[in-house]
Amino acid sequence: MSIKNNNRRQFLQHSALGLAAATFPGLLQANQGQIKSSPTRGFNPDVEIEMSARSANISILKSGPGTRVQKYYAKLLKGPKQTLQQLKGNYLGPIINFERGQKVRIFFNNALSEPSIVHWHGLHVPQKSDGHPMYSIQPGERFVYEFEVMNRAGTSFYHSHSHELTAEQVYKGLAGLITVTDDEEKKLDLPSGEYDLPFVLQDRKFNNRNQLQYLHGMHGRMQGFLGDTILVNGNPNVEFSVKSRAYRFRAVNGSNSRIYKLGWDDGTPLTAIGTDAGLLEKPETRPYIMLAPGERVDLWLDFSGHSVGSKLVMYSLPYSGAMPPMYSKMQKGKGNSSRGMGGMGGGMGGGMGMMGGGLAQGAKFPIASFKVTEKVSDSPKLPKRLVNFDRLTERDVDNAKNPLPIAISMKPMRPMLNGKSYSMDRVMDFERVPVGSIKKIKIFHDHGMKKEQHGNDDQKKMGGMKGGGMGMMGGGMGGGMMMSMAHPIHLHGQQYQIISRKMEGMRKDEYATVKDGFINSGWKDTVLVMPGEEIEIIKPFQDFKGLFLYHCHNLEHEDLGMMRQFYVN
Ligand code: C2O
Ligand code: CU
Ligand code: CU
Repeated sequence: MSIKNNNRRQFLQHSALGLAAATFPGLLQANQGQIKSSPTRGFNPDVEIEMSARSANISILKSGPGTRVQKYYAKLLKGPKQTLQQLKGNYLGPIINFERGQKVRIFFNNALSEPSIVHWHGLHVPQKSDGHPMYSIQPGERFVYEFEVMNRAGTSFYHSHSHELTAEQVYKGLAGLITVTDDEEKKLDLPSGEYDLPFVLQDRKFNNRNQLQYLHGMHGRMQGFLGDTILVNGNPNVEFSVKSRAYRFRAVNGSNSRIYKLGWDDGTPLTAIGTDAGLLEKPETRPYIMLAPGERVDLWLDFSGHSVGSKLVMYSLPYSGAMPPMYSKMQKGKGNSSRGMGGMGGGMGGGMGMMGGGLAQGAKFPIASFKVTEKVSDSPKLPKRLVNFDRLTERDVDNAKNPLPIAISMKPMRPMLNGKSYSMDRVMDFERVPVGSIKKIKIFHDHGMKKEQHGNDDQKKMGGMKGGGMGMMGGGMGGGMMMSMAHPIHLHGQQYQIISRKMEGMRKDEYATVKDGFINSGWKDTVLVMPGEEIEIIKPFQDFKGLFLYHCHNLEHEDLGMMRQFYVN
């Protein structure tokens, strides 16, 4: 792809010994090649892993040729055997099972032919081990991560985070699941072992030689990649054989842009016991659950009432309002029907027409089925209470009246946060946060009808590129609102809590198709912000100084620069 470059190297050339680097010790070290490429003496890990990213050929579609992917491989050098759970013949990296309190060292070898770095999404780790893109390493280089597992029990995941390469590398396979357990969780007697299963959701598009098709062109990137083949744990058409008892399914949305509305076809509600990287205080039951890229939800699926032979299908149920109105119009009537799992691979090509995908955002489609194959009578009961929960309130913050802003805006071809695109060596004043502080943050849309000074130019460019269809995006009254779409906003570092969620926009009927699917009561690191929504969160910035990213987890948006960073100091 033409716009890829190596930002870190570029940065090093431009700002060697520059002011910005002097301000950010981390950057300065990256500058001087002092990134951790060798282990720290005196750090004695409980778990040591040797990991690499390489290209590989994996049989994903089960018939025809294998698919070229990029894949994480890992070998356990030290630690409990269950730390790594290898998934044979799968493009996903092995599942990494951590315990709270473990000291971890991971050697990461880049065996790709392009820069890369790994981010542990959901884990609270020091800047140097967070996979900040400044630490991207070149082919043949090695990076050493060292951290202590400080998280509560929960579900996280790891994925590549090399700026401007993140979306395509994740798409090609560079991701894997992380679980963390702790003493509090162990006391709960939740479904474990064979009853505690991953549920990694991704969408892909294959050509007729079984090779992955990514999107091309700016227009597709603004919308985000949407594939026509749904993969669960790296496989198409997944059917789980289950016993008549309760299970824990760790759902992770590892898709680039697709937002799932998880639900059963017959309206049976869904129960969650955890969100993002933590268990809830008590289970939450919803008619359906929204899951945006980067989000996780631990589902309690109880099959005890079902007789042997019965089959349940989990769907992504239909919804609207996530895309700008112009996209929605183009989608109408296309790809919005269920075609059964078998037909998904081939038959859905028409969904988004020329828009670069297959199955529309908000379309209904089956995700996986569950076949009850054995009757058992030992099902655990859903606990009424799960874990102790430190509820954060405005009294805990030092800026209740003056929340830090995360303003979402989109100029044509340029989704931004706080009016800016990402730049590795820059923070704005309000992005400097004292270490140890707890802040209120307000996430909102700011498509300002007032401040689109460049609207006309952009509009001209757009019109030139796209013909009539997009002309309405640029300026005037349509400017902001026509481009308003859903963005999953992710903050690195510690988990946060949602304290309020308000819908201020005008697309209320569309909002009604998603609004009951949000779980706001848990620890979060990624929150879906629908058009017109304003969300307040409280986030602690404790333990570690340094640069911590916040960005849209629509990975195409992230790579387009919809990312900023806090400088915790
Ligand atoms: Cu899952 Cu900064 O990413
Ligand atoms: Cu992250
Ligand atoms: Cu976005």
